[in-house]
Amino acid sequence: RLLLGFLRPLGSRFPWAAGLALGVWGGTGPVGKAFPIAHTHVSPPAKFTCPKRSTHMAIQRTFSIIKPDATKRNLTGAINAKFEAAGLRIVAQKRIHLTKAQAGVFYEVHKERPFYDELCEFMASEPIVVQVLEGEDAIAKNSEVMGATNPAEADEGTIRKEFALSIGENSVHGSDAPETAAVEIAYFFAGLELVG
Ligand code: CMP
Repeated sequence: RLLLGFLRPLGSRFPWAAGLALGVWGGTGPVGKAFPIAHTHVSPPAKFTCPKRSTHMAIQRTFSIIKPDATKRNLTGAINAKFEAAGLRIVAQKRIHLTKAQAGVFYEVHKERPFYDELCEFMASEPIVVQVLEGEDAIAKNSEVMGATNPAEADEGTIRKEFALSIGENSVHGSDAPETAAVEIAYFFAGLELVG
């Protein structure tokens, strides 16, 4: 009784503390009998909760193209071996032959660049492989494995250093941000074609 007299005013000021007491003393104990809601969970205020910090990086999807210069030289397998060795999983893939107009829509962001026409012509010159890569931090990882756009500036061991012929014929394309990845994936794949 003395204990309950002490707890009741406390409970009205600090409902979370009452909840805690009910959790500890509830059920068959004296508090449980006095408060029939003994099994109701009352969360403490946010400032008393431990922040849950994720120790994992986000799983992302990114869009990837194996370009005409690479498909022509039979390098699809060698290039994908590098993506897979880096922990990227191919969750969608198809071999297609773009028209120049379709390539133009895909690279519309470069429309004003002097190399736009040459780029579209090149992308429509031979079949390409379009694919979706999935993994931890996939956008950054894909960029790292591809290497710099210009093979002359690419690091040793990267796809472009090893296989690219020039800045134009640079073997692979990869999305540069989550927003562009979403748009680029949707240009080539329906949702049901992505199998993780
Ligand atoms: P990609 O990552 O597919 O994005 C745009 C492409 O434009 C790029 O790779 C290159 O292939 C191409 N590109 C960029 N700069 C040049 C350039 N100076 N001359 C020709 N092509 C270029």
